[in-house]
Amino acid sequence: MTTLAMPHRTGIAPARVHALARAERARYEAANPCSRSLAARSAEHMMFGVPLHWMNDWATPFPLQVAEARGARLVDVDGQTRIDFCLGDTGAMFGHSPPAVTQALQRQAARGLTTMLASEDAATVSALLAERFGLPRWQFAMTATDANRFVLRWLRAATGRRVLLVFNGCYHGTVDDVFVDLVDGRAVQRASLLGQVHDLTATTRVVEFNDLAALEAALAPGDVACVLAEPVMTNIGMVLPEPGFWERAIELIQRHGSKLVMDETHTLSSGPGGYACAHGLKADAVVVGKALGGGMPCAAYGFSAELAAQAEAAKRAAPPGHSGIGTTLTANLLAMAAMRAALTELMTPAIFATLHARCTRLADGLRAVIAKHGLPWCVTQVGARCEFQFIATPPRNGSEAGAAMDPSLEQALHLALLNRGVMITPFHNMMLVCPDTTDADVDRLLAAFDEVLGLLAE
Ligand SMILES: Cc1ncc(COP(=O)(O)O)c(C=O)c1O
Repeated sequence: MTTLAMPHRTGIAPARVHALARAERARYEAANPCSRSLAARSAEHMMFGVPLHWMNDWATPFPLQVAEARGARLVDVDGQTRIDFCLGDTGAMFGHSPPAVTQALQRQAARGLTTMLASEDAATVSALLAERFGLPRWQFAMTATDANRFVLRWLRAATGRRVLLVFNGCYHGTVDDVFVDLVDGRAVQRASLLGQVHDLTATTRVVEFNDLAALEAALAPGDVACVLAEPVMTNIGMVLPEPGFWERAIELIQRHGSKLVMDETHTLSSGPGGYACAHGLKADAVVVGKALGGGMPCAAYGFSAELAAQAEAAKRAAPPGHSGIGTTLTANLLAMAAMRAALTELMTPAIFATLHARCTRLADGLRAVIAKHGLPWCVTQVGARCEFQFIATPPRNGSEAGAAMDPSLEQALHLALLNRGVMITPFHNMMLVCPDTTDADVDRLLAAFDEVLGLLAE
């Protein structure tokens, strides 16, 4: 048996992956001279050569430099157009620079950017959010990370409980409290966290998704302020809830006097009110960010009437002074104008129906290509987003999803797709469609995927 023919868990021999990665790196280097020289210039005054260090974690040998992005397309500084299925990892889920939002921004830009005061847009946006997400009381933030951080504070203050409960493999932005993993059944603080001096395991409990017995045991001490969860895990590859999981979990959470916070930042792809609304699930709080402002930085969180009353009571009972919640630019006039436009003109049932149909075409197409190449991979779809994973059966929890990952294969594949004009999300295998994504765009991705799998499986 030759090395190339050696079987591997993913169905692809590692030697094939390395050969593809080598060839695709050379191809990228040759095709992107302007990106290369701009990256070199950027390296002079930016740490890691990029505005945010993880922009280096794309599969490219040096960062691709963007010139402009519109709709489903992105043009780089070498003048090459890529069809974008990453869409800013959901920030641009309604397309790059959607006209409804850019026009609202232009109108607002001439009338004030930020004032630290409320406006008519705020009243309208909060009413629209209440209607969409079925929760009556709202507050705002600049990012989903901030929204989660603030919600956690409110929940601890409102319930008088200290403990946060999360699911293994979760991601809710850079909220320190969630970076606790389950390792051999024990909660362990993530070693990669920089500068963290607190023992997060003292106040964060972690269980596997879809494990009701573990959830109940973790809630039993009666000290859990809230369970913070995505309704579908999307950040360690996708993990769907098993039928009945959430209904039973909600019962358990209520029985133990805890609260459920649904982070719908990614699962907004399910419909105008997110996954929970689409599936009739009732949370005490919901967090939405990223696409909520059509690409402008803003986020929001909503509370049930009961939770809002508890939170307001906690604030009134506290001594005057800093609450630890809020930032100066939160709910600025531009952000409010962007959310109003996105909520009224983009987050509509008609647009979601188009997105879902197109994504189904993509997910079905991916399954067909995978089957053609006889690979033991699965595809999961949640509304407008879908993901292929290097595992035959969809994972049931974060541990299974994490074990299915293969960073070398992922990187080689992503780079090869990028070199063929299509871009998917780094760190895992997620693809998102936007209203501007056409059937032809989907077919182009499928053709590139087919070609690359052909090279890998040769
Ligand atoms: C579920 C979820 N919540 C929150 C966040 C944080 O969003 P942001 O980075 O915009 O703060 C992310 C980011 O990927 C996310 O996936």
